[in-house]
Amino acid sequence: MADLTTQLPGMILNHPVMPAAGPPGHDSKALQACAAGGASALVAKTISTVAAEVPTPNMADFKTYFLNTELWSELPPEQWLEKEYPEAKKTAQANGIPLIIGLGYTAQDIAELAPKIRPFADAVELSTHYIGDDPAPMQEAIRAAKDALDVPVYVKLSPFRDAHRAAVAAQKAGVDGIVAINSFGPTLGIDIENGGRSWLGSKTGYGWLSGPALKPLALRVIYEVARVVDIPIIGVGGITTGTDVVEFLMAGATAVQVCTAAITQGPGIFNKIAQQLDKWLDEHEYKSLADIRGLTLRQAQLQMPSPPILIPERCIGCNRCVTSCVYDALYLVDKKIRLYEERCAKCGLCLSRCPVRALKAPM
Ligand SMILES: Cc1cc2nc3c(=O)[nH]c(=O)nc-3n(C[C@H](O)[C@H](O)[C@H](O)COP(=O)(O)O)c2cc1C
Ligand code: SF4
Ligand code: SF4
Repeated sequence: MADLTTQLPGMILNHPVMPAAGPPGHDSKALQACAAGGASALVAKTISTVAAEVPTPNMADFKTYFLNTELWSELPPEQWLEKEYPEAKKTAQANGIPLIIGLGYTAQDIAELAPKIRPFADAVELSTHYIGDDPAPMQEAIRAAKDALDVPVYVKLSPFRDAHRAAVAAQKAGVDGIVAINSFGPTLGIDIENGGRSWLGSKTGYGWLSGPALKPLALRVIYEVARVVDIPIIGVGGITTGTDVVEFLMAGATAVQVCTAAITQGPGIFNKIAQQLDKWLDEHEYKSLADIRGLTLRQAQLQMPSPPILIPERCIGCNRCVTSCVYDALYLVDKKIRLYEERCAKCGLCLSRCPVRALKAPM
C-alpha cells in the first residue's frame, strides 16, 4: 500500500480526497454522509451573510458535463451557526477529520462571518466567484479572514479570471493555500423536447459547467498556479477516478476535491477514488504521493519526431485508432495494428485513442 498521507497547512489527512463546496456539503446530514463515504476532510457549502435565493430547477447532468445555477447556501447563516456547524463539527471529530468552512464573498462579509464560525472551523475556504476581476477585493477578503481567525485560510479561484494574477495576489495577501477551480461559465444547456427551453431556471437560463469536461481547464489552472506560488493547491474540477487524481497531483496539487461525481454517484465516491489512487500508485511502484507531485512541472516539451511505435502483441483489434486516423495511416492485419509510415502526419491522436496502449510515442 502506498502512503496516501496528505499534509496541508494545519491538517494531516489519511488521503487527499475530500468533497468540494456544494451539494455534498449542503448541510450537516450531507456532511455526515461524506464522512461515511470515506472523505478525508469535510467541506461545508459556501455561506454568506444572507441565504441565497436559488432558482429551480438548478442542476442538470449530461454525463460528460454538468450544469448548475446554484449560488451559495440557501440556508441562512443563523441555521449554520446554531445547528449545521455544531453537528458537522461533531461528525468531523468523531471521524478524526477536519471541517473546512466555505465563506463568501467581500471583506465585509468575511469580517462579519469569520468570528462566528471560529469555534467550528479547522480551516476556511473563501470563494471568489462573485467578486470581479480585480484581485484587490479578494486580497481584502483574505486579510479579513486572517485577522479574525487563527486557522488556515484557503482561497478558491474561478476559471474565468486570470488565475496566475489571482494566485500571486492571494499569496501576497497571506493566504495559506489555493483551491482551484470553481465551475466555469456562464454556459447554456437546451432541452430540445421542452420547446427549446434552458434546462435551468435562472433568469437568463445560464448555468455553470462542472464535471469531466472541466478537468483539462482545472489541470491547466493548477499547473499555472503551481509555477508561480509555493503554497499548497487543492485541485478540483471533473475528478471521477483515482487516475484523475494522479493527473491533478502531477500538475502540482497536494489534495483534491470532488463535487459533481459525489452528486451523481453518491458520497461513497470518496473512498472509491482513494482506493483507485492507491491501486494505481502500487501498480506503478510509487511509494507516496510526494513521488508524483509536480511531475508535469518538470517535464520537457513533448515532441513527435517520427510516427508512433507499434506494440502489436498488445493490440486487441478494436479498430478505434484506425477509424480516427484521418490520414489513413493505420490498418489491421489479422486484428493486429500496422502502419503506413509515409502517410503518418505524427498528429498523435492514435496514442490517446488506444485502450490498451498498443501505440507509443517515439522518444
Ligand atoms: C450544484 C453545485 C453547487 C456548487 N456550489 C458551490 C459553492 O457553494 N461554493 C463553491 O465554492 N463552489 C461551489 N460549486 C463548485 C464546486 O465546488 C467545484 O468547484 C466545481 O463543481 C468543479 O468540481 P466538480 O467538477 O468536481 O464538480 C458548486 C458546484 C455545483 C455542481
Ligand atoms: S500519429 Fe496521427 S497520422 Fe500518425 S498514425 Fe497516429 S493518428 Fe494516424
Ligand atoms: S486502438 Fe489500440 S487496440 Fe485498438 S486497433 Fe488500434 S492499436 Fe489495436
